[in-house]
Amino acid sequence: MKGERLLLLSGIFLLQGVHSCPEKCVCHPSSNFVDCRHRGLTEIPPDLPPQTLTLLLQDNQIRQLPAHVFRSVPRLVTLNLSNNSLSHLAPEVFHGLRHLQVLNLTHNSLLSLESRLSHSLPQLRELDLSSNTISHLPTSLGKPWENLTMFAVRGNQLQHLDRRLLESMPSMRLLLLKDNLWKCNCHLLGLKLWLEKFIYAGGITDGVICGSPDIWKGKDLLRIPHELYQPCPLSVPHLAVQQHGVAHEEVPKSPENHNSGERDPVSCEVKPKPRPTNLRHAVATVVITGVVCGIVCLMMLAAAIYGCTYAAITAQGHGGPLVQTSDSGKTGGKEVFDHSPA
Ligand SMILES: *[C@@H]1O[C@H](CO)[C@@H](O)[C@H](O)[C@H]1NC(C)=O
Ligand SMILES: *[C@@H]1O[C@H](CO)[C@@H](O)[C@H](O)[C@H]1NC(C)=O
Ligand SMILES: *[C@@H]1O[C@H](CO)[C@@H](O)[C@H](O)[C@H]1NC(C)=O
Ligand SMILES: *[C@@H]1O[C@H](CO)[C@@H](O)[C@H](O)[C@H]1NC(C)=O
Repeated sequence: MKGERLLLLSGIFLLQGVHSCPEKCVCHPSSNFVDCRHRGLTEIPPDLPPQTLTLLLQDNQIRQLPAHVFRSVPRLVTLNLSNNSLSHLAPEVFHGLRHLQVLNLTHNSLLSLESRLSHSLPQLRELDLSSNTISHLPTSLGKPWENLTMFAVRGNQLQHLDRRLLESMPSMRLLLLKDNLWKCNCHLLGLKLWLEKFIYAGGITDGVICGSPDIWKGKDLLRIPHELYQPCPLSVPHLAVQQHGVAHEEVPKSPENHNSGERDPVSCEVKPKPRPTNLRHAVATVVITGVVCGIVCLMMLAAAIYGCTYAAITAQGHGGPLVQTSDSGKTGGKEVFDHSPA
């Protein structure tokens, strides 16, 4: 039955003079669309038609991708690898896909992202890495990803995201970050500042909900006031705590500080203390606003009194009331409705 169908399909393709189609896939030659969804594939099928533009490989059990595996389909624009078993991407996997615009890697088991991915995929517009187990993303992709407008890492295990990574995606419009383990300490301040600029410039994001520390758990990173963040300790935490001048001055006193500098768990947490300063600012603002409003009101009142007095004096000068009572008009109107019974 299956064989018959394949034979028939092959026959059709031969008649149309089109390249062969992989055994387990369905090819739509008119649209250069190859559908290999849900076929129990464990590897990329060979013999993909070279003119393929869209390749659907979702819902299979592909575990790994050898380097240059997509060399035979250089015109590919959309590649869907959603819901497979990929845990690692070798550096050169997507090599040669110079025209790829959409890459869907959702629902795999990826742990990270290859740092030179942007070199292989210069035209990429949408990269969806949601629902993986990514706990770390590279700081930089090597060079700017000029055309990337959508980047999604929802449902992963990220605690931190370096703003330099986002800065290498200057065309970004949609950024999906929800459902991660965001650690809202001083190291996330860069992301917060970047997001504020991004949103101000019209970018769309689904937000960063803190997973830790406990005081911010469940809170939106963007709603935590800046004042509550201390600058991150410099490479030498002990000196950095002191005055600026001292921090620049000298070589570290004790060598073990070198290691703790990167992620010092204590000095790194946000401090919830400066809240009163914030409150005082708010109160001062309200008081000042009140005083200014009061002054403006008094001036308006004075102007009104002056205007009225002037008008009254002018009216007296003319020797008669300014406005005539509309008595006649009223009675006239009444008469219309006031008819006696027949
Ligand atoms: C993922 O693919 C498997 C087949 O490999 C399928 O049974 C399952 O429904 C798919 N899951 C989703 C969320 O589509
Ligand atoms: C990729 O596959 C998923 C699952 O079938 C689907 O929801 C999604 O729309 C596809 N995306 C693209 C770009 O083909
Ligand atoms: C990727 O596939 C998922 C489903 O697995 C879908 O929800 C998502 O919209 C797709 N992403 C893109 C960019 O098409
Ligand atoms: C970005 O897209 C434009 C228009 O499609 C294209 O001309 C340009 O070469 C792309 N940039 C890169 C780095 O490929």
